Amino acid sequence: MSPAVVVIFVYLMVQIRTSTCLTQVEIACPIFTSTFGGNGALPFHGPAFEAAVKECNRIYAGVFNFTITFITAATVEETIDNFAGNIARWHFDPKRSSDIDAIISPGSMDPTLIHQLTSHWNILCLSTTVARKSEYNLRPATTMIAATFVSLPSIATTLTTLLSSHGWITVFLVIDRGSTPAYYSIADELDRTNKTVPRIRYLKRNIVAKNL
Ligand SMILES: *[C@@H]1O[C@H](CO)[C@@H](O)[C@H](O)[C@H]1NC(C)=O
Ligand SMILES: *[C@@H]1O[C@H](CO)[C@@H](O)[C@H](O)[C@H]1NC(C)=O
Repeated sequence: MSPAVVVIFVYLMVQIRTSTCLTQVEIACPIFTSTFGGNGALPFHGPAFEAAVKECNRIYAGVFNFTITFITAATVEETIDNFAGNIARWHFDPKRSSDIDAIISPGSMDPTLIHQLTSHWNILCLSTTVARKSEYNLRPATTMIAATFVSLPSIATTLTTLLSSHGWITVFLVIDRGSTPAYYSIADELDRTNKTVPRIRYLKRNIVAKNL
């Protein structure tokens, strides 16, 4: 092969590689950084999400290019409070040029609000855990997938059944009101269960552990 042919061949190969239609998929992940906020924190989920993106880029090399942006706040409350503004800033960022957007988070978001926004923007939303169902009911709405829907009544019933199956009828409950809302919401739910299932007597004591 003459050098000119080699140069043309290399040039054509480069053209073919760079002209393949690579679909850019951008994922936003609202998440909180403090591990005191609960098990949805970035240090627990971030590495797994990044590994998944890396693996997807390996499997779909040349077809999709996945990127993930963590939209962080310190605590779960701050993540939820600032959620709409932060996610809108990401969505409308003129520097981004993705073909497909998605929001994937370990649940640090208000399901109704996020469903409303993603439905308007027509993008997918996936939550690996969620405590409540979306109450957004205008149609058409985009699909919102909650991988593990955790309802408070089902947790409270499980605990109550477990305790009564071991013959526990008086339970001393210490409730940390400074903990992440999921935990004291379970305690409040046990209270409601208590009224319908009077087999168990819960004696409650509220504390704020970080003030002790
Ligand atoms: C994937 O997207 C990122 C962010 O836009 C970019 O830096 C990177 O070069 C892209 N990768 C490929 C293979 O195009
Ligand atoms: C639970 O039920 C028992 C018996 O009905 C009642 O004495 C107790 O105060 C209840 N506990 C709570 C926390 O409401």
